[in-house]
Amino acid sequence: MQNPECVVILDFGGQYTQLIARRVRECGVFSVVLPYTTNIDEIQSHKPKGIILSGGPSCVLDEGAPLCDAGIFSLGIPVLGICYGMQLTSLLLGGGVAACSLREYGRCAVNMDVTDHGLLKGLSAESNCWMSHTYQVEKLPDGFSVIAHTHNCPVAGMADDARRIYGVQFHPEVTHTAEGRKVLQNFLMDICGFAGDWNMEAYAEIAVAKIREQVKDGTVLLGLSGGVDSAVAAALLYRAIGSRLTCVYVDHGFMRDGESDQVVDIFTKTFPVELVHVDASAQFFTDLAGVTEPEHKRKIIGRDFVDVFKREAKKLGTRDHFAQGTIYPDVIESGDVKGSAVIKSHHNVGGLPRELGFQSLVEPLRMLFKDEVRKLGVTLGLPESLVYRQPFPGPGLAIRVIGELTPEKVAIVRGSDKVLREEIAAAGLDRSISQFFTVLTGAKSVGVMGDERTYAYAVAIRAVTTDDFMTADVAQLPYELLGRIATRIVGEVKGVNRVLYDVTTKPPASIEWE
Ligand code: XMP
Repeated sequence: MQNPECVVILDFGGQYTQLIARRVRECGVFSVVLPYTTNIDEIQSHKPKGIILSGGPSCVLDEGAPLCDAGIFSLGIPVLGICYGMQLTSLLLGGGVAACSLREYGRCAVNMDVTDHGLLKGLSAESNCWMSHTYQVEKLPDGFSVIAHTHNCPVAGMADDARRIYGVQFHPEVTHTAEGRKVLQNFLMDICGFAGDWNMEAYAEIAVAKIREQVKDGTVLLGLSGGVDSAVAAALLYRAIGSRLTCVYVDHGFMRDGESDQVVDIFTKTFPVELVHVDASAQFFTDLAGVTEPEHKRKIIGRDFVDVFKREAKKLGTRDHFAQGTIYPDVIESGDVKGSAVIKSHHNVGGLPRELGFQSLVEPLRMLFKDEVRKLGVTLGLPESLVYRQPFPGPGLAIRVIGELTPEKVAIVRGSDKVLREEIAAAGLDRSISQFFTVLTGAKSVGVMGDERTYAYAVAIRAVTTDDFMTADVAQLPYELLGRIATRIVGEVKGVNRVLYDVTTKPPASIEWE
């Protein structure tokens, strides 16, 4: 399959490189991220209509600083250098770079000097941008002129319109740069001439072609977790290789109400792959008996998960490749932005591909962000009820039971979670609250039900709003809704006589209780 027209992004190790790729995708343009060492022939083999040079942590003046082939500037293809990429452009074309007298870091007002055409067309004369630099362009290369500056940085943007080579010191790809999207759009649409009609369906086609190339006529084993990422990876693999995909779904017994059935249903009806559904709850409960310390619980769950998965994989016999739904934030969080396999910590199957003799690891979502994975899932035909699920921890409801785990206690969390989910959905709030769930606190207290004295558990409601789950605000559920939820939980869930509402932000609390 022929790749669509693309922009090549040369990666100089910047933390925002994949964010550039993402923003480019948002403009409806396909991109290929290549290491800065890629030689000119290979770059040309992608037939790019534009090249973007990313930022990076190095200083262009250092010995051994990452350099690209200067030949890219003579291909007649538009080039945009961002931060390090702009300084490198300057250096390779005969300009000069020097240390800033005053470093700029964070939000910064940038004066846009040329806004009637080219890269900065349509931008405000002064625009808030994100800057992070210790060095700056001091002398322009021949043919260039300044198109933006700041109070401290005389060249915050430069252009050679004749050769269509541009540079910006600020980061147009981050949301803190208010008009960053316009800059990328100007480059991609006006300067490079992209149509901007690339979309998730096209992404799926390319991903399918890549999987076929990697797997050839081999077979693939994938671990379904019940979450969004592995489900989307499975749907993509199914499109690529059909019945040569086998999925193993290890059910640890800590899923929410109806979730296991939904997974099995989708993957036997909509995507009729071979699905091995292992009900391993007995093993998990046995191994967790008497354990109260949260980290200890997590370790046992992780270890059992790997054990069960290995056992099932061995039973199934040979499969050639191993697949998983690693997404880009997992890659970043693991500190592994450069290549080798990354395994989600809760499904800690690290080393498993090698141990079980798989030829390779297939990770088709490795470069996508969560919301893009969701869009892809919908494109592939997965139901929105699965694709738009809120985040759910790998160890599941187990970490929402404080103290020792028993099937009865898990049933209390599952039952109260079901009520909460139903009521929040009925109130139309399920998409606006980032995460909501119930927790079985360890506290028991006296109550009265009918004429009977009760001595039962207190359940807590947790509902938060957050963008990144690193910090979170309390979602302010309406009081009547809280009352309805409390009445239903106490009435419908055996073993509960009190409902609490957690009004703590993160920090100081975490989102989960554990
Ligand atoms: P905390 O409790 O640390 O949670 O504030 C932040 C977010 O991470 C989720 N979480 C997990 N996700 N595996 C996951 O995939 C896990 O083991 C895990 N533990 C917590 C949590 O639900 C929240 O969204």
